[in-house]
Amino acid sequence: MFDIRVPATSANLGPGFDSLGLAVSLYLTLTVKEEADEWEILHDLGAGIPTDKTNLIIETALSLAPNMAPRKITMTSEVPAARGLGSSSAAIVAGIELANQCADLQLSIDDKIQIATRIEGHPDNVTPAITGDFTVGTVLDSKVYWTKASFPEVALVVTIPEKELLTKESRAVLPDSLPFKEAVKGSSISNMLVAAVFSGDIEKAGALMEQDVFHEPYRGTLVPELSQVRELGHEMGAYGTYLSGAGTTILTMIHPEKAEAFVAAAKAAVKDSEVKLLHVEKNGVQVIK
Ligand code: HSE
Repeated sequence: MFDIRVPATSANLGPGFDSLGLAVSLYLTLTVKEEADEWEILHDLGAGIPTDKTNLIIETALSLAPNMAPRKITMTSEVPAARGLGSSSAAIVAGIELANQCADLQLSIDDKIQIATRIEGHPDNVTPAITGDFTVGTVLDSKVYWTKASFPEVALVVTIPEKELLTKESRAVLPDSLPFKEAVKGSSISNMLVAAVFSGDIEKAGALMEQDVFHEPYRGTLVPELSQVRELGHEMGAYGTYLSGAGTTILTMIHPEKAEAFVAAAKAAVKDSEVKLLHVEKNGVQVIK
């Protein structure tokens, strides 16, 4: 028996659309038990999530090792579905690790990233779920180029609206193309943001996180709470606020000493939402024996 623990992730960080990602302290945990006649994955996450081999975790594992013997598994998850915190990426990464362990595939970190990105579509959520911490990634000719770096010391406050938003719906409001000047501006903001993170300048990084031109201007109507939380962040001295992944979660970066007060203020101000204080998770997927 062993456990597989995968962190939730927050993608984009504003201008780093489909490229930047951060591992955060909410977890999907599998307890992998004895072999059985059929695959069984027990959880209390609701009837919408299969408990048999059609579960995304098992499907992913079987796509890598079709002859794996079925197992009994229990799953617990703190990662809310369809809220922009990488719940499907966590499931895909868990499935890859399940096959890696049970079929002894000896996958490297890079192997896992290449496989997970091929299944998920973008590297921004799966990469930090595998490596932990902050990652930059891009896909060129089906190959993922990626780098991991240490994110500066900061508290993360997530405001999670009750409303679910599927990535597909949230991508449907994006334009097919951007004017050249706008694209150049967006790219330069993103470059500067990455440089600020790599040099440990969280104040500069936070300010740049709020200057996206690629997706937030279009998604703001789907998540009206974004501008509300951002404004609250300005009033309370936060470094920056952005739409986590495709939404609906909003992530605010703030000095740890100001975080509790911000949590209380966000709870009071934003209706029908859950507000949680998190931190950057330095570890990616873990196998605990
Ligand atoms: N970068 C993606 C998006 C994350 O914002 O649509 C969700 O897969």
